[in-house]
Formats: sequence, structure tokens, C-alpha cells
Amino acid sequence: MANTSTQGQPVQYLPTLEHDEGVAAATKLFAVTFGTEPSGVWSAPGRVNLIGEHTDYNAGLCLPIALPHRTFIAVRPREDTTVRLVSDLGDGSVAQVELGGLKVLGVKGWAAYPAGVAWALRESGHGEVRGFDAAFVSCVPVGGGLSSSAAMTCSTALALDDLYQLGFGGDDEGRVTLIKAAMMAENDMAGASTGGLDQNASMRCTPNHALLLDCRPELDALHSVSQQSFDLDALGLELLVLDTQAKHQLNDGQYANRRSTCEQAAKTLGVANLRVVADEVAASSDQAQALMDVLGQLSDETMRRRVRHVVTEIGRVRSFVTAFAAGDVAEAGRLFNASHDSLAHDYEVTVPELDVAVDVARRSGAYGARMTGGGFGGSIIALVDKGQGRHVAQHIADEFALRGFHAPRALAAVASDSARREA
Ligand code: GLA
Repeated sequence: MANTSTQGQPVQYLPTLEHDEGVAAATKLFAVTFGTEPSGVWSAPGRVNLIGEHTDYNAGLCLPIALPHRTFIAVRPREDTTVRLVSDLGDGSVAQVELGGLKVLGVKGWAAYPAGVAWALRESGHGEVRGFDAAFVSCVPVGGGLSSSAAMTCSTALALDDLYQLGFGGDDEGRVTLIKAAMMAENDMAGASTGGLDQNASMRCTPNHALLLDCRPELDALHSVSQQSFDLDALGLELLVLDTQAKHQLNDGQYANRRSTCEQAAKTLGVANLRVVADEVAASSDQAQALMDVLGQLSDETMRRRVRHVVTEIGRVRSFVTAFAAGDVAEAGRLFNASHDSLAHDYEVTVPELDVAVDVARRSGAYGARMTGGGFGGSIIALVDKGQGRHVAQHIADEFALRGFHAPRALAAVASDSARREA
């Protein structure tokens, strides 16, 4: 293994690209590649979901924050329908896509994400969106389960909205339209199934807040989110994010498999989605019994466990919001732990790296730790005392070295801003 960790080596922290650096780097890459200046620079963040995992496609609740780690896009519109793309992650080569006649899954590789956004906007009635040249520069780790894809699609959507004066980017309600285009790009052009958590986080989070996202399809923009104060400092806390570097892959069928099991379960239970069941259980005077009654209607043991995760996880989001607002750090940590254990045992989306990282974080003094994002690799988060993040991250890195895992990388998470124009 090329970058297997070595015990005792200081754990690497992933730096952020600040405004000036991001703008300068994206502008430079654009100019070097396309020989002219961009019309502007936009950016969108990656995210961590605090709690509420695999609930979005069940019309449930999630609680993400935007990371300070962002993807910058320098763009210039074109007169024709050609899209030319370059990224600092590649070797400088340009990917080219023709929007005219483009069909579902018609683009291979990473270009499907940004080109897919333009395609999705055009498909949804915004034929004025034409081709563009774009250069991407990013500090959101790719494959870390921190929504590098949403950072790319949402920064593209906001840039195209501005350049073609679609008028959606300026307020929260309008952004829902751009979120839909970003989701359509990921689901239908990149073939990477996603339920909306990531794009909502990247487009709607605000600094110092977690976004309580209610994914019931019948809700309008105003009622689908509420901003929850997320002031870790005030509670003497820090949120450690650690990318295990176990490569996260959501398009290998496992994610789609979980989704379809949930849909089948809802069908069997005669409800539109599992949120309906979660709300019924939450309203019951004996919630444990109510959940048992629901599970008793399902004959398949695996399906029962998947449903138990979704229903209990939606309940944990509510409990976490209450606990955090009351400053009950022990309870917030307990809910992190319960979420992870449910994802490991009932939903079965963890891998050894995630379980070991969570276990070591807990043993190193974290109030609670859990995987975040889709799972099957990616990142964990841990709620720790302020100043302890590096120490906990180091313990995890040392354990990874002993086990021959890849060296993990840490990020300092502060609740940051959503997609915006930078220059
Ligand atoms: C991925 C998907 C999201 C969500 C999470 C799990 O990140 O893109 O829509 O389903 O997994 O909570």
C-alpha cells in the first residue's frame, strides 16, 4: 500500500482554500487553460452531516453543516453549446462535452457533474443556458464522503444561474430550483445516486448554524429547513472530522440497494415513505412497542433492520437538536454513538476503517463519534473537548498504522457558509 500510515507520524490536517487563494488559483488555472480571463468566480462548500443518515430519501430529517472547505469555479459563458472543463485534480487536460442532443448518462467521468448541471437546467425549461468554459480548484477531499460532488454541482449551478440571469441564486426559495438541477446532474448524468442532503447543505447552510432539513416532498422551501444555532465554542467543544481514506463509492449498487429496500418496506407497510412510519412511532405513548408493531408486519429480517435504522435515526435527529440546544453534551454524544451503531449493525453501511476510527475516538475521550455521509468508506466525526481534536485524530492515525490502513486525514470543522459568488 503506497500511503499506509506509519505510527507516530503527525496526522495530516487538510487546509482550507481561503477566498483570495481560491479566487487566484481558479482564475489562474482558467487563464492558463483557456487563454483568457473568466467572467467570475463562484464557490460551494463540502458538508458534514451531524446526524440523520440515510434518512433524506425516506422523507426524513438530516442535520448538516457546511464545511469551510470549498470548491471554486472560474467560468466564462460561450456562445455555442460546448462545455470545456479543467480541474486542478487532473493533469491539466480539458474535458469537452456537447450539450446539444445530450441524453441521460451521456457523459463519462467527472465532467458529467458540471456538464450535467447545464443539461439539467436546459431540460427543466432553461434553454437560455448555453455552453461555458470552467476551471475548478478544490480543497474538498474527493471520495471522503464530504460531498465533493455537491460542491462541484452546486458551485456550477450558482455560476450558471448568475451568468444566465436565471434569478434563483439570490434567495433560499430560488436555490431549491438549483438544488434540483444539481441532484438531477448527479443522479441522471453521473449515475451517482443521491437523496438531496448534500446539495441542500451546500446551497442552504449558514455560518454558525446547522441546517435542520426536513425532506418531506410536500414541504415548500420555507418549511423544509430551519437554521439551528451550532456554536461549539460556547459549549467548549470541537468537531473533529477525519477522512479514513477508505475510498467511498456510492455508485456500486449498495446505496441503490438500501434505497430500494426502504421503498419496498414502505410499500409493504402501505405508506408513502418511511417518514410516515417514523412520525407514527414518535407520536405513540409507547414508542418501543409501536416500533415493534411496525417491524412485526415485515417478514424479511434484513428489511426489518433497515426500517429500524431509518425510524430510530429520524428520532435521533429530533433528540440531538433538543439536546444540543440545551447544552446537553453527554446526550448529544450518546446520540452520535447510537447513530453509528445503528448504521453499522442495522443499516450495514460501515467498513472496518469507519468502525475502528469511531471506536478509537470514543476510547480517546470523545463524547460521541459516528460515520458521516453515505458510508462504505469516507469520514467520521467526533464531538470532543476544545483543543482535543488533534490528540484524538493522532490516536486514530496510530491505530490505523498498526492495522496497515491508509493514513487518515483530519479537518477542523466550523459551520460555514453556503454557495456564493467570490469574484
Ligand atoms: C450520500 C447521499 C445523500 C445521503 C447520504 C446518507 O451522501 O448523497 O443524499 O443519502 O449519503 O445520509
